[in-house]
Amino acid sequence: MSALFSPIELKDVKLRNRIAIPPMCQYRANDGFVNDWHLAHYASIARGGAGLVIVEATGVAPEGRITPGCTGLWDDAQIEGMARIAAAIKAAGAVPGIQIAHAGRKASANRPWEGDDHIAADDRRGWDTLSPSAIAFGANLPKLPKAMTLADIERVKADFAAAARRAKQAGFEWLELHFAHGYLAQSFFSVHANQRDDEYGGDAVRRGRFLRETYQAVREVWPERLPLTARFGVIEYDGRDEETLQESIDLVKALRSDGLDMLSVSIGFSTPKASIPWGPAFLAPVAERVRREAKIPVSSAWGFDSPVNAERAVSQEQLDLVMIGRAHLADPHWPYHAAKKLKIDRPSWVLPAPYAHWLERYAVAE
Ligand SMILES: Cc1cc2nc3c(=O)[nH]c(=O)nc-3n(C[C@H](O)[C@H](O)[C@H](O)COP(=O)(O)O)c2cc1C
Repeated sequence: MSALFSPIELKDVKLRNRIAIPPMCQYRANDGFVNDWHLAHYASIARGGAGLVIVEATGVAPEGRITPGCTGLWDDAQIEGMARIAAAIKAAGAVPGIQIAHAGRKASANRPWEGDDHIAADDRRGWDTLSPSAIAFGANLPKLPKAMTLADIERVKADFAAAARRAKQAGFEWLELHFAHGYLAQSFFSVHANQRDDEYGGDAVRRGRFLRETYQAVREVWPERLPLTARFGVIEYDGRDEETLQESIDLVKALRSDGLDMLSVSIGFSTPKASIPWGPAFLAPVAERVRREAKIPVSSAWGFDSPVNAERAVSQEQLDLVMIGRAHLADPHWPYHAAKKLKIDRPSWVLPAPYAHWLERYAVAE
């Protein structure tokens, strides 16, 4: 019996297995609107058999996009395109999820393959950025953000809630708030980005306030019966790791008391001066600790694409869900190949019938 291929229930949602596709920006939208690229991409990876597909970081406001090619849900007109994607994911047997986001001081950037740096000040494609304090990220993202006023904070929280309502209207059944990766929410929590001296800065409780209030604002509009999760960088690998982890776990406990259903354990990416110990499944012990100490279901990503590692992370109760990202770009049928590798009986049945029927009878040369 495979742990990876066992179903899991969260609220009223049932995933057919523990394989999830994490949000991965496609940078192919126009003014935040999705198109046929997104539809084909998400339908294709959902047909591969994962239990959950989370649509990419989708801006709650135009200035909250990472790049001009990022998707958005700040306008009711953007619901229709997203609804087609949610329906396609569901028709493929996966649960449709979406991540809503505000990129903060990392916004207004060029696409990764166009430099991954801030758009030049004299380039009309760029825009002004927001952050808790007027401190630039540095390195390839030197643009100085505006320090948010209390009115800015209220507006962005309302933007998150409005985008959540639109995500619900589009038919998504799983919502992830992007509190990670050095974007706006993570910046509030990070000592590298937040030097405010009001109630949103200072000790870890105050630095966590924006995240909790955003979560609470969304919880009010998102149905109680559907999972409302967050992705959060619990560690920066900046030499302050134990302290950050402790503060992060305390915040996760507080978010759990606000109703958080699952945490996607990730990295802070709030400073270019981090030294990250990349390697297969390297976040597994960190995620396991958050799961144990904060007593909350967790998922995680970053290098779980060896099926044996993915299986182990679930069977050893380090993760409840395993995120398989880039490996799905390389192979939309990753779950089928993982099932074969794990010697699961009739692995083709993770695929839809028009594929599975033939693969059951025909051994594809590999
Ligand atoms: C093309 C690409 C786009 C990404 N976009 C997002 C995103 O929108 N939101 C997010 O939280 N992480 C994003 N990430 C990070 C992935 O969700 C994931 O954490 C990362 O790819 C590591 O997992 P993997 O080793 O299975 O690929 C992105 C990664 C890639 C490769």
